[in-house]
Parts: sequence; structure tokens; C-alpha cells
Amino acid sequence: MTHTPPISWIDNPRARTIEQSQAVDELFPSGIARKTRAFHSRIPGYQVSPLKSLPRLAAMLGLGGIWVKDESFRLSLSSFKVLGGSYAIYSFVKSALGVDELDIFSAEGSRLVREKLGDLTFAAATDGNHGRGVAWSASRLGFNAVIYVHEKTSQARIRAIESNGAKVVVIEGTYDDAVRQVNDDAQKNGWQVISDTSWPGYEDIPRWVMQGYTTMFAETQEQLAAQGIIKPSHVLVQAGVGSLAAATLGFYSQLFGPGRPRSVVVEPDKAACLYRSAEIGDGQPYSFGGDLDTIMAGLACGDPNPQAWRVLWDTADAFVKCPDYVAAKGMRVYGVPLAGDPFVVSGESGAATLGALMFIMQRPECAPLRASLGLDSRSEVLLINSEGNTDPTYFRRVVWSGRHPVPEAYTTLEE
Ligand SMILES: Cc1ncc(COP(=O)(O)O)c(C=O)c1O
Repeated sequence: MTHTPPISWIDNPRARTIEQSQAVDELFPSGIARKTRAFHSRIPGYQVSPLKSLPRLAAMLGLGGIWVKDESFRLSLSSFKVLGGSYAIYSFVKSALGVDELDIFSAEGSRLVREKLGDLTFAAATDGNHGRGVAWSASRLGFNAVIYVHEKTSQARIRAIESNGAKVVVIEGTYDDAVRQVNDDAQKNGWQVISDTSWPGYEDIPRWVMQGYTTMFAETQEQLAAQGIIKPSHVLVQAGVGSLAAATLGFYSQLFGPGRPRSVVVEPDKAACLYRSAEIGDGQPYSFGGDLDTIMAGLACGDPNPQAWRVLWDTADAFVKCPDYVAAKGMRVYGVPLAGDPFVVSGESGAATLGALMFIMQRPECAPLRASLGLDSRSEVLLINSEGNTDPTYFRRVVWSGRHPVPEAYTTLEE
């Protein structure tokens, strides 16, 4: 029996030739992370998320260090996504009021917003996490939210959105269909769409969403500095539409220019729109068709965010796609670490990069990728655990019952 190999990759040597990316300067101007962090730190309950070190696993894989920015408990919402939705709503409100500063969480601030803007409804399409973050942010600010999900979205994810006060609409099709539908319905109903992806004429809000994510890296840099590390040498980041990846690489490119960490964008092989765009290689974003049937629900996106793509085309050193068992392995390794390493609760989308890193370091056929990225015993690798246990039933199927095992042919290296 043959199996899909764990890792397929496309090198993007062009990224190394770009000294300064115009897309990065436009979307992630210098100082933006300081601004977003100042906003997030005013949210009641805000805490810096942990940066966990896995030194035993790093040694086993022949790396200097593995650092995991653990978003599994961010604002009790189990994923990083709320950082984007909250900052976008805040920026939208400021722009609607025509003000530069607004203490939106104070009684005075919310009274002003209500007086001037009345009753607003925010709408979003989601595979679960973005909608939960938008619903949470809207309800904290006293606004309504309507969240569109596709038919394969799990009941647990739907309940998590509803428990934040939003109305959930289930549509036929995929995440990309939900994006289109919510946009049409919002125009008819006068809702304000908070999307994590852009289209021509709709660019401010997705830019704010992406900028909101940079708070994670402002925190990470402080946490690394406390360990005497100036920057990660490498970063692996998972991608759906590519907004998280663009925020990651945009932040690091703005801070370090050509000295930024070497980077890998990781996608499911069933929803590899950025990989496909890199493979075609003419600089344009391309969609990935099909039913996007992957356990990595947060990464099940067929249409790249065109704004994010511009950043990734300039800054991502390699694009990787992998089957579901790679993410499943990552979930299990995070949950049952080597003795001495901390455990991490990581969902399917969160764990994809750890799974990919393990196969990249251990599979003989990945030697050229390791070499071109310069992954070795001096490397300090940053991963983002972008979600915790966001779908408890499926989480247990994978972690407890062993769903999506690594095919026998690819297990031998650890025995
Ligand atoms: C847990 C998780 N990780 C990663 C991503 C990928 O983010 P993006 O769609 O911006 O590429 C998502 C998107 O929803 C997600 O929910």
C-alpha cells in the first residue's frame, strides 16, 4: 500500500532576494505591534500567552531549541484568533467615529460609541475560531454578531460561538462559500463584515485583523529576550487563508529586514492554496478547489487572502503541504512530550507545524529542505500553537483513540 508522503515542499528562493518588501511596509508598518499590544493589554482579562521551550525534543531532532507560543488559552477562547477580530472591530469603530484614540472598554468610551453609532451588528464567516473571536469581541463591546459557518463545522465549534452571544447561520459548501454568503447577506441587512480575508475594495478590516495578530510576536520577542535570544532563527507557521502567516513573517521582516528568521508556511494537502500559488510561481494568488476535507479545520481554506499572499510571496522561504496524520502526530507529541519538556494542549490546526517540523527533521527525503533552510543544531525554531482543544470530541478521537495514525512506512525513525 502506498501513502501520501508526509512532506511536500516548494522552495521560494525569490524571498531571499527581497531586501525590503513594499507589501510588508504597507501592511505591517514599523511600530504596529506596539500599537496593537497597547490595545489588547487594555482588554479586561488580557494576559501574555506562554512561550514554552521543548529542549528535549529539540535535542532529539538535532535542533538548538524549539519555542512554542502557546495560544491555547488566549482570553479563555482557546486560540489566537480573537487578537485579530477585536483589533479590527476597535479600529473600525475608531474610524467610524473619526478619532485616533478611544478607550473603548471604559464606561465613557462605550457610551460615546453607542451615542454616535447606535446598535451595530458585526458579521463574519468562520471555520470556528475567527467567528468565536468576533462574537466575543462584539459582545464585550455591547454589539450584536451574526456568524456564518459551513455545513461541516462541528457542533462543539457552533456551541462555542453561540455561547458568546452570537447568532450562527449554517450554509452549504465550504469556508470560502461562507465568506461569499455573509458578504451578500451583510449588504442586504446593513451588517458590518469583519473578515480575516480581503477582496478588492475590502482591505482595511482584514489588514487590521492581520495587524492584531502581531501582538503575539511583540510578546514573543520579549519572552525570547528574557532567555537571551534576539530572534528565532526559523519560524514555521500554519496557514488557511494566510493572514496569520503574513502577520508572522510581516512582523519579523519589518523588525529584522533581510536578517529575518528563515520561514516555512505549512498547509494541509487538501487545502493547499498558498502552496499551489507558490508552485505556479507567477506572483499571483491561486485557489485550491475541492471539498477541502481535512481535520485541520482552521486551515481548510481554498482561497488565499490576496493581501497576505503579497507578503508571503516576498518573505516565505518555503511552502509545505502535509496530510492529516502529520497534524495528528503533532497533537500527540505536544500532549505526551519527552520527559522534562512541558506538555501543550494543541488542536489539529495548532499542531500542524510541530508535526511538519518532526518529519522535516527526521525524513531522509527532506534533507534538501533542511539544507536549504539551514536547520541544524544551532537553530532556534519558533512554532505557534494557534489553538488548544477547540473541538473536544475530535481531539479525543485523535489523541486518545489514535485516529489518523502515521503510516507504518513512516514510523520507523523513532523506534
Ligand atoms: C487555529 C488556527 N490556526 C491557524 C489558522 C490559520 O489562519 P489564516 O486563515 O489566517 O491562515 C486558523 C484560521 O482560522 C486557525 O483557526
